[in-house]
Amino acid sequence: MPREINARKKLGVLVSGNGSNLQAIIDQSRSTGYPAEVAVVVSSHSEARALERARAAGIPGYAVERADFASNNDHNGAILDKLKEHGVDLIVLAGYMRLVGSAILDTYRDAVINLHPSLLPSFPGAHAIKDALEAGVKITGITIHFADETYDTGPIIIQEVVPVQQEDTEETLGARVHKVEHRHLPYAVKLWASGRLRIVGRRVNILPKKDRSAGEHAPEDGH
Ligand code: GRF
Repeated sequence: MPREINARKKLGVLVSGNGSNLQAIIDQSRSTGYPAEVAVVVSSHSEARALERARAAGIPGYAVERADFASNNDHNGAILDKLKEHGVDLIVLAGYMRLVGSAILDTYRDAVINLHPSLLPSFPGAHAIKDALEAGVKITGITIHFADETYDTGPIIIQEVVPVQQEDTEETLGARVHKVEHRHLPYAVKLWASGRLRIVGRRVNILPKKDRSAGEHAPEDGH
């Protein structure tokens, strides 16, 4: 059998909740020319809606809960086993509420991407949208970055601004932030899978496209 030259990269998506960003990646991965596919979904909660989304899409999904393991290391080790079992190339943390730990980061060097609902380094942590509203900022946004050993740090790949409106609540602002995430996360994955990201110190350079005939999946804002 001829060797497949342009094999799609395999994604392992780690989730903890709703999984709307997982859905955005699944949806994009079905369009022609998209260079990646979701190979496995691992959730830190067995009740996560994201697991239902995986099931509906015919993608293997597992709940690997911290409570079932003696230590964080053991928990991360079990997740790592699942990722390897499914031949994962890139890990996407899409609403994953835990640290992945050094065993995973060492195995997947420069291949773990996180999504955060603010313009980092502003408002790190689990309540970014609430914190932005309480601080009274006029703009917030989204950040997609390479993950490292701590929460919400690591070289930034993409950021996009979301203006805060006077009448905004956590729900209305959150909904607009999510919409922006859904456009940009699949694009960041595409950049990685196409070999177009270079980490240079704290910066991430986005290289020009190699093949102009390849399908475009840029968000509407013209990335
Ligand atoms: C997103 O807002 C992401 O930035 C944050 O958690 C949320 C996950 O949403 N880390 P969903 O589960 O993808 O709907």
